[in-house]
Amino acid sequence: MFRAVLTDRLQAAFTASGIALPEGFTPAVVIASDTRFGDYQSNAAMVLGKQKKTNPRALAEQVKAALQVDDLCEKVTVDGPGFLNFTLSATALAARLGTIAADDKVGVPAVAAPRRIVVDFSAPNIAKPMHVGHIRSTFIGDSLARIARFIGHQVITDNHVGDWGTQFGMIIHGWKTQLDKAALQKDPIHELVRVYKAVNAATKADEAVLETCKGELVKLQQGDAENLGIWKECVRLTLEQLEKVYGTLDIKFDHYLGESFYNDALAPLVEDMLAKGIATISEGATVVFSDGSVKPEDDPFLIKEKDEWKAAPCIIRKSDGGFLYATTDLATIDYRVREWQADEIWYVVGAPQQLHFRQVFAAAKRRGVTTSMTHIAFGSILGPDGKMFKTRSGETVGLLEVIEEAVERAREAADAKEQGLSDVEKDEIARVIGTGAVKYAELSQNRLTDYKFSWDKMLSLQGNTAPYLLNAYVRTRSIFRKLDGAVKLTGELSLTDPAERVLAIKLAQFAETTHDVLLDHKPNLLANYLFELANTYHSFYEACPVLKSEGAVRNTRLTLCEATSRVLKTGLGLLGIETTERM
Ligand code: ARG
Repeated sequence: MFRAVLTDRLQAAFTASGIALPEGFTPAVVIASDTRFGDYQSNAAMVLGKQKKTNPRALAEQVKAALQVDDLCEKVTVDGPGFLNFTLSATALAARLGTIAADDKVGVPAVAAPRRIVVDFSAPNIAKPMHVGHIRSTFIGDSLARIARFIGHQVITDNHVGDWGTQFGMIIHGWKTQLDKAALQKDPIHELVRVYKAVNAATKADEAVLETCKGELVKLQQGDAENLGIWKECVRLTLEQLEKVYGTLDIKFDHYLGESFYNDALAPLVEDMLAKGIATISEGATVVFSDGSVKPEDDPFLIKEKDEWKAAPCIIRKSDGGFLYATTDLATIDYRVREWQADEIWYVVGAPQQLHFRQVFAAAKRRGVTTSMTHIAFGSILGPDGKMFKTRSGETVGLLEVIEEAVERAREAADAKEQGLSDVEKDEIARVIGTGAVKYAELSQNRLTDYKFSWDKMLSLQGNTAPYLLNAYVRTRSIFRKLDGAVKLTGELSLTDPAERVLAIKLAQFAETTHDVLLDHKPNLLANYLFELANTYHSFYEACPVLKSEGAVRNTRLTLCEATSRVLKTGLGLLGIETTERM
């Protein structure tokens, strides 16, 4: 990518001109914020000038003299207080364009040091309603995993489903007393959630029911055959249905190691932490206290109350012997480090679990874990009214309902259009547009902010939406359809029109964008890039006739169309969005 190569060249120029760089300082070149002065820029001379108390412009001129970029740039200038501005040459851009149009990685280089990354996402809870948090986790996690893999990391995706926990006491009691078998066959998740909710309500009204549920839970934990059988059936039915949803969404997991997978590891883990002095017994429970190694502000085991720091320990075993969410997560980390040699673990989980992860990460580090662990948090999804959002039928929304409704709405739109497509074709297009619309609505947002869910907006053909981008893709394809395969692109490329140049640069910057997404785990950078690309393509298409042009000009323009088509398809693919050839 241009940014990385120019940065290397600039660094070399500093060395060649005898200007010493401070430890850890890289003279960075970035994409220009104002393209009037160039395509790329660096403020390195200004930063350094300030540090060394020398004139930054003179410094910039000195570096510029040593800079060897003739193969890439048509000019380099020193502007303003000491900016170095780089303008790419038409030849370098044309060469890159040729690569993008032919390379299966569309010109995106691999990372220099691939890492082994476990991505923990989606993770719904068996027999409990899936909440909107699972929607965000599913789409963000899937996209980040795809991007990491695309740029050369080794990625392991793991769906850490909540398949063990106190909810099973209620489910088993409900299963035994009020299960509707027919409903279970039809829609298992729905029926299990109904049973769970009914029993949950009954426990609130009647203490005796609560006791019965607790009894069922204890029997399950002790390995009672009947209860284990019911539990297994719940897990099987739910996973079966979930896999269908993931199939519709084109999402795959390498593993489904749910919480129950770690049951046998929990007791030894707690004993080990006690033996190492990381955990202590307090009021009968086993807990992790602060070890005072960091400032109170940064200590997840402390909480400020009335201007005083108080202990906020992490419980890993209750006084009744039960284990907790944190215990399972610690055992899970052990497994991922031991079995998968994870260099990094990414947890795509809502912001409310921030404290949980801070405590778990800190406790794991005290156990000697050196793997880097990141909580990739996100905010909430709100309804159009700014409150919790509901489906057409007025229910609180889970992943399933949202996807079904999105596909249904896209199908209605396809029907309304009627353009000689068969029902099967329309179904498939509706699936691609419907799922794509929901995914894009999510991924085009900054994950940390709450966003309003709006069916009309996300399914609109105008604006920053999946249908708009899919339509842009379809248009790039339609040119080639018109040519009926009778076109062979050649390497004869010459960028002359400014609109061609702007598009070529934008296409080249797919590489930078893709790498940048992972700096802060923000797929919205990629979504916004694709939107800008579609707009840039639009302007190019208005300004530059393609089919009516001739010779090298025509070849160049067709190559720009082909490259745009490929970058759109690849980029949308990295967001987990499929493309369709017609819509
Ligand atoms: N099942 C959890 C929930 O629904 C999310 C699990 C996230 N992953 C983890 N390793 N804790 O909130």
